[in-house]
Amino acid sequence: MLMVANWKMNMSRETIVSYLDALSREGRWARWCAHGYRLVLSPPLVYLDFLMHELQARELPFWVVAQNMCAHEKGAYTGEVSADMLRDLGLSGVILGHSERRRLFGETDAHVAAKTALALTRDLVPIVCFGETEEDRSAKNHAKVWERQIAPVWKEVQKARASGSETPVYFAYEPVWAIGTGRTAALDDIREVAWTLRESFGHDCASGLLYGGSVNDESLSMLVEKGTVYGFLVGGAFLDPEVVLRSFDRLLLHP
Ligand code: PGA
Repeated sequence: MLMVANWKMNMSRETIVSYLDALSREGRWARWCAHGYRLVLSPPLVYLDFLMHELQARELPFWVVAQNMCAHEKGAYTGEVSADMLRDLGLSGVILGHSERRRLFGETDAHVAAKTALALTRDLVPIVCFGETEEDRSAKNHAKVWERQIAPVWKEVQKARASGSETPVYFAYEPVWAIGTGRTAALDDIREVAWTLRESFGHDCASGLLYGGSVNDESLSMLVEKGTVYGFLVGGAFLDPEVVLRSFDRLLLHP
C-alpha cells in the first residue's frame, strides 16, 4: 500500500528538516515497509536532492517522487526537468497529470500519455492522476472522462510492456471536486472506478488504483478496502507529519 504525500508548492528546507525529525520519532518504518506499507514523499522539484540526502542521512526508507516532468528527453525547454535528471537523483517515480497541472498549466491527455511513456523507458514509476469535475459528475459523464483520460496512457503502458518494461504504474483517482475541498469520494465511487478500469482496461490497470481528494487520517479508514484501493495520494493533510503518523497507525488496524 502506497501513501503518497503530495506537498505541492509548499515546504522549505527548514520545514522539511522538522517534518523528517517528527517522522523519525517513529521507529517502525522499516518494519512497515517490509509489510508493504510505504510512505512516498513528493516535494517541489528544487527540494528533491535535499530531501534525498536528508532521508539517506536518517536511514528513512521512503520513496521520493517528483510532481511533474517534461515530456521531452532533453534540449531547449527552459524551466523544465527531464526524466533522466530525475533518474540521476535516484528518484523512484513521478506524479503525472495532476488535475492542477491539467487545469492551470494546460496539460492534455496526450501530454500525460507521452510523459508516462518516457517515464517507463527510464524505469520511473508513473503515478498518473485522473478524475472528473463536478460538472462531469452531474452530467453523469464521469466514467467517460476516466476512460478518455486513461485510454492514451494505457496504450503507452501496453507498448512499454511489449518492449519488456516491468515498471509498475499507478493510477490515482482524484475527482477535481474532492481536491482541497474537504469532500471525499465515497467508497462506492471508488469501487465504480475500480470496476470501470477493470472492465475497460483489464485487471492490471485497476490493481494499482490510488485515491486522492481531501484524504486525512479520519477519512482514510472509511476508504481502505483491499482489492479496491492500493493506496492514497494526500495533499493538504500530509503537510503535517503528525497526520502522517496517525494515518499509518490507522492503516495498520486494517491489515
Ligand atoms: P488534498 O489534495 O488531499 O489536499 O485534497 C490531494 C491532491 O491534490 O493530490
